[in-house]
Amino acid sequence: MSEEKFINQNITPKNTSINQKGNLEISGVDLVELAKTFQTPLYVLDYETLKQMALDYKKAFSNYEKINLLFASKALMTSSVAKIIDSFGFGFDVVSMGEIYTLKNAKVNLDKVSFNGNNKSRQELTFALENKINRISVDNFHELELLNEIAKEKNIIQKIHLRIAPGIECHTHEYIQTGQIDSKFGFDLTKIPNAIEKIKNEYKNILLKGLHVHLGSQIFETKVYSDAVKIVLEKIKMIKEDFGLELDEINLGGGLGITYTEEDSPPSVFDIANVIISSIEDNCKKLNLNKPVLYIEPGRSLVCSAGVSLYTIGSEKNIEGIRKYIALDGGMADNPRPSMYQAKYEAAIANKKDSIKNEKVTLAGKFCESGDILIKDIELNQPKAGDILCVFDTGAYCYSMSSNYNCALKPAMVLIKDKKAYEIVKRQSLEQLVQNDVILDID
Ligand code: LLP
Repeated sequence: MSEEKFINQNITPKNTSINQKGNLEISGVDLVELAKTFQTPLYVLDYETLKQMALDYKKAFSNYEKINLLFASKALMTSSVAKIIDSFGFGFDVVSMGEIYTLKNAKVNLDKVSFNGNNKSRQELTFALENKINRISVDNFHELELLNEIAKEKNIIQKIHLRIAPGIECHTHEYIQTGQIDSKFGFDLTKIPNAIEKIKNEYKNILLKGLHVHLGSQIFETKVYSDAVKIVLEKIKMIKEDFGLELDEINLGGGLGITYTEEDSPPSVFDIANVIISSIEDNCKKLNLNKPVLYIEPGRSLVCSAGVSLYTIGSEKNIEGIRKYIALDGGMADNPRPSMYQAKYEAAIANKKDSIKNEKVTLAGKFCESGDILIKDIELNQPKAGDILCVFDTGAYCYSMSSNYNCALKPAMVLIKDKKAYEIVKRQSLEQLVQNDVILDID
C-alpha cells in the first residue's frame, strides 16, 4: 500500500485547520460561525473534499477504457448532492423510486442510472421504465418475471444485469456484509443457469448485458475484489459456452472503506482500482474473453470524508470513578450508525484552539434510549455546555438514515464551496413534522 494518504484514508476533510480566532475551519469557513448561523445539529459538506475524491476515482480507473462510475445514492441523496456528483461525470446507483425522483428533481440525466434492490415493486419498476433507467440489476426470479411483464406492456426491451451472490465473505460488520452465500441479495451461484435459461427462452423483453455483485461495505481488503472478478468472469464464460450468450458488462458494486478513527486502515481507491483492473486483465486472458465494460458503485468512500456534523454541548452527568456523560443536541436520529453497528467516530471541539486531549468523556445523544451514545470514551479538551462539537466523517449514511425519532426535526445541511456556506437542505419545521398527520374526529 502507498505511503501517501488519500481522501478516504484521512479522518478530517481536505482543508481542515484552526483559524486565527482559534476555531476549527474547513476550506476557509469557520465552523463555530456556521453553527451560529444555521443552528445545530448541522450537517456540513465540503465541496473540495468531495471533488478531490471524485477526481481520484476517475484517475484511478482512467487506464481502463470502458468504465462507468456510479455513485451509490443510498449513502447521501439530496437534490444538490445529485447535481454536484452528476457534474463530476458520475452516474448513479439507485434503490428506490424516491432516489430516482430526487435525481429527476435535480434535473440529472437518467441515462447513467442503474436500479438495484432485492424487492422492487411493480410501481417502482414501472416508474424506472417510464424514466428510461439505463440498467436494472435484477435480484431474483420474481423480479425477472415482473420486469418482463411490465417491459412487454410498454413494448420495451429493458437492458439488465443479473445480481449474483458470489459467496465471498468480507471482514466487515455482519449487518453490512452482502456477498456471502447466506444473504438476502442476488441469485445463488447454483441458480444462474436456471435464470439464464428463462431469460433466453421466456423473457423476450429483457436483454441481459452482464452480471452484478456487491460484496459489502466498509471493506479494507483488496483480495475480495479480485476474487469477485474471477467468479464473475468464470460465470460469464460458462454462460457463453453453455447458453451461447455473450455478456460484456460487469458491475462490482461499492464497498471501499474509509478511516473513521486511527484504528481503520482502508486501501486507497488507487489500490482497489489496480487490483480490479489487473484481475480483469488476467482472468480475461486466461478465459479467452474480451474485457467487459466495468461498472463500480462507490457510496461511502466518495462522500463520507467530506461530511462533518456539528452539535452544541448541553448537560453533563459525572458518575464519580465510572464515567462522565456529555450530552449533545442530536444523536441517533441524525446519526444512527453507532447504535446500529457500534460504529466509531472521531470528534473535536470546534471553538477550542488547542487540540489538547485532557478529559475522557462519553458523548451521549439526546434521545430516549440508553444506546444513544455517539462516541464512547473519547479524549477531548474539557467539553463544556455551549461548546460546538464537530464529529468527522458523517458524510455517508447519516443524513440518508436519519429519522424523526422522538419527533426530532431533521437537521439542515450546508455545502462549503468557494469559502462560503450554502444551505442545501433546510432544517425540517414543526409544521413539516405533522404535515401528513390526519386528525380523526373522535367523539
Ligand atoms: N452497491 C450496492 C448494490 C449496495 O448495496 C451498496 C451499499 C453500495 C453499492 C455502496 O456501498 P459503499 O460503497 O457505500 O460501501 N448503512 C450501512 C451501509 C449499508 C450499505 C448498503 N449497500 C452503514 O451505515 O455502514
